[in-house]
Amino acid sequence: MIETTADPSRVDELREQLVGELRKLGALRTEAVETAIRAVPRHLFVPEETLEKAYAPQRTFTIKGNEHGATLSTVSAARIQAFMLEQADIRPGMRVLEIGSGGYNAALLAELVGKDGHVTTIDIDPDVIDRARRLLPAAGYGDVHALVTDGAQGEPENAPYDRIVVTVEAADLAPAWVEQLTESGRIVVPLRMRGLTRSVAFQREGAHLVARDYEVCGFVPMQGAGASHVQLVPLHEGEDDHVGLRLDGEERVDVEKLREAFAQPRAETWSGVTMARGLPYDDLDLWLATTLPEFALMAATRPARDRGLVASASPMGIAALIDSSSSSFAYLTMRPTSPEREVFEFGAVAHGPEAAKVAEQLVAEMQIWDRDHRGQRAELRAYPAGTPDQELPGGRVLDRSAFRFTISWPPAEH
Ligand SMILES: C[S@@+](CC[C@H](N)C(=O)[O-])C[C@H]1O[C@@H](n2cnc3c(N)ncnc32)[C@H](O)[C@@H]1O
Repeated sequence: MIETTADPSRVDELREQLVGELRKLGALRTEAVETAIRAVPRHLFVPEETLEKAYAPQRTFTIKGNEHGATLSTVSAARIQAFMLEQADIRPGMRVLEIGSGGYNAALLAELVGKDGHVTTIDIDPDVIDRARRLLPAAGYGDVHALVTDGAQGEPENAPYDRIVVTVEAADLAPAWVEQLTESGRIVVPLRMRGLTRSVAFQREGAHLVARDYEVCGFVPMQGAGASHVQLVPLHEGEDDHVGLRLDGEERVDVEKLREAFAQPRAETWSGVTMARGLPYDDLDLWLATTLPEFALMAATRPARDRGLVASASPMGIAALIDSSSSSFAYLTMRPTSPEREVFEFGAVAHGPEAAKVAEQLVAEMQIWDRDHRGQRAELRAYPAGTPDQELPGGRVLDRSAFRFTISWPPAEH
C-alpha cells in the first residue's frame, strides 16, 4: 500500500528536520545532496512505515529476510545514503549505476544527475526490482532503469558509468565494474577488509585504484557470484548470550581449543591510551587490522556482556588478536579513568595458555597507533590480481580473487 494521504506540511517539516539532522551528523556536506534529499519523498519508498520513522536519519528498513532470520534487503539509513552520495560526488549529466536497489537511493541519484543524466539500478532479487519498479514511477522517477541481474556483472548495456555506487557489502571489486567505469570515474563500495567494512570511494590511478575517502558503514552481504562469507568460530552459545570470533580469510584455527580457552579465567592488560567518551575509534580498529598477524572480530550479544562473559560487545564486532599456535586470543576493551566516565582507557582481555602474551601484543599495537598514527587516515588501494609484491606499497595486503587490496599508513610525524 502506498502512502498517499500524508499531510504535505508534515512531510515538509520532517524533511527539513532530516536535512538538519544529517548536517549535524556530518553525513550531509554539500548543497547538491541537500537539494536531492529535500526533493525526494522518502516516505513513498517505505510505505509500510510511519512518516516519523521514514524520516528518521539512522533508521534502516528491512524489506526482505530469509527463513533463518538473516536480512537480505533493506532500505538503508538516510545517514549512510547521504555520506555515500557525498563520497560519490555526483554531477548533473552523469551516468550512474547503483548496485542493490531499494528505490529511494536511486531517486536521489536521479535528482543529482538531472534530466541530462541517467540512472541504472540493478538487484539480484526479482522481488526487490518489482518493488523498485512500482515505487520509483509512483514517486515521479519513472526514468530510472531498474533490472534484475547479478551486480558482479555490472550492467554493460548502459555503460560506461561516471559513477558506480555499490550498496551491498563486497569483499572484492568485480572486474566488470572497473571495465564499465569511465577513465575519471569513481566507485563507491562498502568494502569488507579483515571483517571491517568501510564505504570506500575509489578512483583510478594508472593501473590501480586509490581511495579518496572511506567511512565506517554496515551493509547486507553480497549474494551471487561475488558472495564471500566470514567464518564464525562459536565460543559460547547460551539462550541469548552468544560469543564468537569472526574470521575473514583462510585462517585455520582449532575451534575446540579456542572454546576451552574461553572457558578459562581471563587476563587483562591496560595500555595508557585514552579516548574521550563517545568519540569514534574506527581508525584504531583499522590500524589493528593492518598490523596484527591474525586479526578477528569478537561478536558478542549484549546479554553475554551483561552476564560478564565478555568485557565488551558491539554489533559491529570488537577487534581481536588470535594466536592460533597457542589457541589463545585477546580482544579490545575499555574502562573509565574516573567516576565521571568522561575519558576511557583502552586495554586487552585475553584467554588461553598464552593469554598474557597476546594481551601485551594487542596493547603494544594500541600504543604504536597512539604514538605514531592517531589522527591519520589509512591509505587504501586496489591492484589487479597478479600485480607483483614489489609494486605494492608496504602495509597489509589482502588478496581477493580479482584484486589485491593494500592498507598502509603515512609515516609517523615525529
Ligand atoms: C542494502 S540493500 C540496497 C539499498 C538501496 N540501495 C537503498 O536505496 O536503500 C542491498 C541490496 O543488494 C542486493 N544484492 C545482494 N547481492 C547482490 C548482487 N550480487 N547483485 C545485485 N544486488 C545484490 C540485495 O538483494 C539487496 O536488495
